[in-house]
Amino acid sequence: MPLIRQHPTSPPDNYPAELEQELRLPDGEVLWIRPVVPADAEVLAAEFAAADDETLYSRFFTPSFDLTEDRLRYLTELDYTTHLALAVMTVGGDESEGVAIGRYAARTADDVEGAIVVKPEYRRNGIARLLVERLLAIAGRAGFSTMSASYLAENAAAARLMESLGFSGDPFEDEVVVDVARRLTTDPAAIGSV
Ligand SMILES: CC(C)(COP(=O)(O)OP(=O)(O)OC[C@H]1O[C@@H](n2cnc3c(N)ncnc32)[C@H](O)[C@@H]1OP(=O)(O)O)[C@@H](O)C(=O)NCCC(=O)NCCS
Repeated sequence: MPLIRQHPTSPPDNYPAELEQELRLPDGEVLWIRPVVPADAEVLAAEFAAADDETLYSRFFTPSFDLTEDRLRYLTELDYTTHLALAVMTVGGDESEGVAIGRYAARTADDVEGAIVVKPEYRRNGIARLLVERLLAIAGRAGFSTMSASYLAENAAAARLMESLGFSGDPFEDEVVVDVARRLTTDPAAIGSV
């Protein structure tokens, strides 16, 4: 399994270290969340190569995802305002195993698109819920007013997740991809500690 550094050694100057946090799973396992850095590119490429078809299809809506150098740079070289990704990893020594990744990227001056993937063996632990809640709060604080998301109509897990987080859409029957959105809040009291 490819290993990821729990603490990036030389993060970019604008790296938002305040977004690093622990996450305790219901079974007591402690995970670590931190913003993605350019040095994660190699690990991310290895994770893509190791991911199962169902996971890739659910996330990217295509069975064969072509991860080009440009795309890899796009996914890891972030400005942390219009494009931000949070990686979740195991805790254990200096290097850890990747568990999940959630990101948002601005589509317009007002709207960001969110996306999330959790490794199959770590699902149903509340990781996606927590990551999306974090992304909603961070994007709201950054001044965006809505978050959009898309998932396959057959993806019951994503549908339940997004609905429970207040996303809604106008689904058409026989639609393959469902588009949903929700408003963000910039109210510091509602944002809580991110
Ligand atoms: C969708 C996905 C991100 C959910 O991740 P997760 O960490 O397992 O989700 P959580 O544990 O936070 O679940 C939060 C809620 O989502 C819903 N949910 C999650 N998995 C579900 C499933 N298999 N069936 C039904 N509902 C599900 C539930 O409402 C759940 O709340 P509950 O556990 O209190 O009932 C994960 O299944 C995944 O990575 N799938 C592949 C990629 C993908 O589909 N991404 C979405 C499109 S970008």
